[in-house]
Amino acid sequence: MTVTVVVGPRRPVGATVEVPGDKSLSHRALILSAMATGVSRLARLAPGRDVAATIRALEMLGVRISEDGILTSPGVSGWSAPGSDVDAENSATTVRLLAGALAGGKLEAVLTGDSSVRRRPMRVLVEALAELGADVSAGSHGLPPITVRGRRLRGAHIELPIPSAQVRTAAALAGLQATGETTIRSPAGFRDHTERWLHALGLGAPLGDEGFRVLPGSVPPLDVVIPRDPSSAAFMWTAAVLSGGRVTTPGVSMNPGRVGILEVLSKMGVAVTVQPTGEILGDPVGDVTVVGPASRATEVTGDLSWRTIDELPLVALVAAVTPGDTVVADAGTLRHKESDRIEGVVAMVRALGGTAEETPDGFIVTGGSLKPGRVDSRQDHRLAMAAAVAAAAAGRVEIHGMEVMAVSWPGFMNALDDAWS
Ligand code: S3P
Repeated sequence: MTVTVVVGPRRPVGATVEVPGDKSLSHRALILSAMATGVSRLARLAPGRDVAATIRALEMLGVRISEDGILTSPGVSGWSAPGSDVDAENSATTVRLLAGALAGGKLEAVLTGDSSVRRRPMRVLVEALAELGADVSAGSHGLPPITVRGRRLRGAHIELPIPSAQVRTAAALAGLQATGETTIRSPAGFRDHTERWLHALGLGAPLGDEGFRVLPGSVPPLDVVIPRDPSSAAFMWTAAVLSGGRVTTPGVSMNPGRVGILEVLSKMGVAVTVQPTGEILGDPVGDVTVVGPASRATEVTGDLSWRTIDELPLVALVAAVTPGDTVVADAGTLRHKESDRIEGVVAMVRALGGTAEETPDGFIVTGGSLKPGRVDSRQDHRLAMAAAVAAAAAGRVEIHGMEVMAVSWPGFMNALDDAWS
């Protein structure tokens, strides 16, 4: 069922919003705990369909997970063969991370997903795992389904052409099961959640220059409270910027690979305050306050583009109401997310009366104003939620396909309503 919602003009946002647990960390916590033998406790798992897909996939392998995050596993070597293909729905993270975890076992599994996941590139993943001697193959054109035939792996030096956190994580999960050490290198800009956690667990160490050494070993059961999701918080930060309001989001992951948007907003003249509150397994957490509006255009390039990757649709909205040309480059990977997000972002800004143009690896947005309009989510959760937030500047926005927000944040519309009232 396709749901159309209308978000009307609102007052400035002024709120403290507790966003859900982080999606990237939830996938990692679930898969690492499932690799461990015994009982793990995972509090505040992300609520959306993507993480539910990882839970279902692990259950197919014989792992038990209760509603309140108690996970019981026989350990990665005790996983049972899934009775049918594993359907990761909209979650490419589930496919890539599980491919790494399954590569060193004894099982055969086929990992697939919905029509969007079946368009997600898997070549870099397959080639990285092949370095370890894995038998992992993609379908035609390097796309899912992914077939994994678990086998004994050997440590290797892996050089990735792109800073994909998912591929680095898959290589690390496979490397844990290999004989001998594995090193992983890539350009900068990836979220290094997995590597920080493995380091804290004594299963790896950073090497400098974006390198990481994986030490083969057994993952211990985990007991963690997942930090809140900065990619979800970013919708609220942007609502504050666009409405000239203020929002505070406590307890958010401050992994440097996740919060590039705060750097971008600061460069655009937004007041951003971060209060560090601690860390979970070596990964920093903090309270963030953002006060709008923005005052100047900026450039987002190089590793900053990667560190802002999931938030670039929001950067486009801020840019659309901020004087000057904002240029986003080095973000070609956006064409291979849940939708072609370069095309989708430019279409969204234009549908709301703004000025934007595509480039091969990003977009240029010229500041002006936004007007009421109608946006198609393209069945991409981040575009749907960005369009709802745009109402803070545009007035009335009609969004076709809003239900897709359930991929990462089913309660998003209620949270946004509360922030505005
Ligand atoms: C993710 C990594 C990023 C990001 C995605 C989630 C992860 O993708 O865009 O939403 O959880 O590791 P890449 O691995 O392609 O950089």
